[in-house]
Amino acid sequence: MKTNTKTIALTVACVCACAAARGADDAKASVAPVAGAKALKYSPMIFGHFIEHFDTQVYGGLFWPGHALSDEDGFRKDVIEALREIKCPIVRWPGGCYVSDYHWKCGVGPNRQPMWNKAWAVEDPNTFGTDEYVKWCRKVGCEPYICTNAGTGNEEEMSDWVEYCNLNSGKWGRQRIANGYPKPHDVIYWSVGNENWGGHEIGAKTVEQWGPLVRESAKMMRGADRRIKLLAAALPAEGWTLPLLKAAGRFLNYVSVHGYYVWGKGDTPYLACMMRTERPEADIMRTIRTLEKAGFGGGRIAIAFDEWNLRGWYHPGLGNFKRGAVMDYAARRQNDVASYYTMADALFSACFLNTCLRHCDIVKMANFSPVVNTRGAVFVHDKGILKRTTYHVFWMYTHLLEANFAPVKVDCGTLSDGKASVPVLDAVLTVSDDGVRRVLAVVNKSPDKAVSLDVSALGAKSASLAATVLSGASPDDYNDIGAENRVVPVKTTLAVKGGKVELAPHSLSCIALD
Ligand code: AHR
Repeated sequence: MKTNTKTIALTVACVCACAAARGADDAKASVAPVAGAKALKYSPMIFGHFIEHFDTQVYGGLFWPGHALSDEDGFRKDVIEALREIKCPIVRWPGGCYVSDYHWKCGVGPNRQPMWNKAWAVEDPNTFGTDEYVKWCRKVGCEPYICTNAGTGNEEEMSDWVEYCNLNSGKWGRQRIANGYPKPHDVIYWSVGNENWGGHEIGAKTVEQWGPLVRESAKMMRGADRRIKLLAAALPAEGWTLPLLKAAGRFLNYVSVHGYYVWGKGDTPYLACMMRTERPEADIMRTIRTLEKAGFGGGRIAIAFDEWNLRGWYHPGLGNFKRGAVMDYAARRQNDVASYYTMADALFSACFLNTCLRHCDIVKMANFSPVVNTRGAVFVHDKGILKRTTYHVFWMYTHLLEANFAPVKVDCGTLSDGKASVPVLDAVLTVSDDGVRRVLAVVNKSPDKAVSLDVSALGAKSASLAATVLSGASPDDYNDIGAENRVVPVKTTLAVKGGKVELAPHSLSCIALD
């Protein structure tokens, strides 16, 4: 990541001016270690992503054959480089709702069959299928994670897919070899289904159907390859997930839950977005209670938040398939409007990841949804790419945090929109394996007030601390084509006065304490 010294100077100056003007000293806070609590290694898989055959995420997104910026396989090189830069650990594919009527066999080999996708009401040419996806993942350097069709698909189609990817024998393993891939793809992460609990999903299932279907699918998929790690579509709700766990828990490594926290076009105001920052915690706690009740607590089955984003996707005319509803493709393209992805998205995302870190004994995977275009961290266009504010959160977390999470207690004021309130700060402490280096990641959600954070209990002794700060000229600031670097991480030093550092309004700071 390139940092520009001029921008750094300007940003530091602006941060100080804002603090002075808005009376930072009124807002005091402190952070202290939790006595006796041990640091825990967290799973880097929480920094994962998701890609779906939806609008221009795949075609005209990461896959753009013949484009000057694409490689010999048709993959956009700038996208691959951007994902390598954020050490993207895993990408879930091909859906999402898309997968619930997707038949993978139409997307392999020399004779690709275009399919009408009933979830998104588009024709898919099927030129980006399993082999292309795995090849793309290997170029990015991430793990592939395939979500299977448990809507119109069946147990056998799922296990044939495992066989195709991971075996050199059997009808489907041999088929892969014949298609030009002599080495197994070795796909380890597999999910049975996507959101099959919901009326919006093609081939939705009842509670009674779901557990047995997952169990039988799991038996067959593991029959193809015993190494695989299995997930199944679940909910942070006991009514669905408890029967699933009773029927199929012994076959599962993770339950898959999803979280989108505001809906509509993307113009939900900053403060309303900040009021949602505690909701992922509630979802995780509900899921943990169900796992415990089913006898799979304590990490015996982990949680994969394998689709999450502040904003749910906007697709007017779709969803509940009501009679007379019109699919409004043009309105759907508003998912790509640059100005919708602001500091609110970045700070919500940092709070979300902090929540996963606080539950790192149970939350072992999370997938930002999606990775490219629509509401993703990277926007791809004809001339290049745009890194949205959320992209930089992933960069900061994968580059600046240490490998272990250490519990801390944060005392701070609250932020309110008049109806609800949340703590104004969200902080996590990370520690290196040898305990020598510590990095505090802290979000100041206040739109306009700096917060003075007392870090003396963490034993930070120097007069200034090295930090990297993501902020912006206003809480609504965003990156755009032609203004790509308006919101970027800035390296700075924070003065420590009386044990306190000042956190800029609407900012994420990663502070090196040692
Ligand atoms: O709107 C996109 C969809 O959101 C994904 O396909 C689905 O899994 C989630 O409900």
